[in-house]
Amino acid sequence: MSAKVTKIGVLTSGGDSPGMNAAIRAVVRTALYRNLEVYGIMRGYNGMIEDDIYQMGSRSVANIIQRGGTILKTARSKDFYGEEGRKKAYENLQKRGIDGLVVIGGDGSFTGAYKLSKEFGIPCTGIPGTIDKDLYGTDFTIGFDTAVNTAVQAIDRIRDTADSHDRLFIVEVMGRHAGYIALHSGIATGAENILMPEVTTTLDEMLTSLSEQEKRKKLVNLVVVAEGYQPDPDKPELRGATEVARIVEEKLKGLETRLTILGHIQRGGPPTCIDRFIASRMGYHSVECLIEGRHNVMVGILHNNMHYTPLEIAIREKQKIGEDWLNIVKILAS
Ligand code: F6P
Repeated sequence: MSAKVTKIGVLTSGGDSPGMNAAIRAVVRTALYRNLEVYGIMRGYNGMIEDDIYQMGSRSVANIIQRGGTILKTARSKDFYGEEGRKKAYENLQKRGIDGLVVIGGDGSFTGAYKLSKEFGIPCTGIPGTIDKDLYGTDFTIGFDTAVNTAVQAIDRIRDTADSHDRLFIVEVMGRHAGYIALHSGIATGAENILMPEVTTTLDEMLTSLSEQEKRKKLVNLVVVAEGYQPDPDKPELRGATEVARIVEEKLKGLETRLTILGHIQRGGPPTCIDRFIASRMGYHSVECLIEGRHNVMVGILHNNMHYTPLEIAIREKQKIGEDWLNIVKILAS
């Protein structure tokens, strides 16, 4: 039987995502309701190492549910990779008697939590917070819905201008290793092609399909590309829409091309209702897990039920994109 948790820390780590604030609010208010002390750790694991930690009350999380970003700030901590950094971080937790931790972030952030739990016996729970939606064991990650809706609104606007000229529009969305934003925003905007890191679309396939569209006199030619897509596996350093546009202009002479990179606008802005809702639900359950002794799990939602994946599995496994999706894209864009 594990010891009772009495003081918990909460942090956000990795890329921020809209809805993280709603999750922090839920963690803080649930903890206080359950008579736990709760501490905010600033700038992810960096704040843990540098002792940038403060006690939070109910009012510390007032008026943040509607705000993008994270009031705790975030970082990808290099020092936490090292044993020395983790030891320092643990000592700072120990000094305050913090005996439980909620980590909001992606798989890199969960790796940190897992190490802390293994090396120092600190019970942790992870809340999936990433716009990329690439985490195993959950249908939702906080921020994905907002990011994908931002991308859809932007691409709809591009469609208007694309419709007014005979041009090919190539739009890059976020996702260094994951194609979910590309897949969802591409399908929702009627893109002809969607290029993602997880699915091999050879250059020839892409160029053939663009030439076919030309022949069919499609009114709008739209290609959505995830930033991590590699047109040529032998040249992994050449990625994303810039490279796709360069190749298309070189190979399909006469096809006028325009390139848009949506970038970080996808990571900001007020979270959608879905992101606020799942963040609140996951935040509540992350604290309940620590109290109930369900430790070192990622708190996900699968088929509308809470689903708890051991951190080591959440880190190791990936949510896969099936090849059949591209077939659907092809049929619907015909
Ligand atoms: O948080 C995930 C993510 O937005 C990826 O989609 C993207 O590749 C990466 O972060 C960008 O990170 P940074 O803001 O450090 O450039």
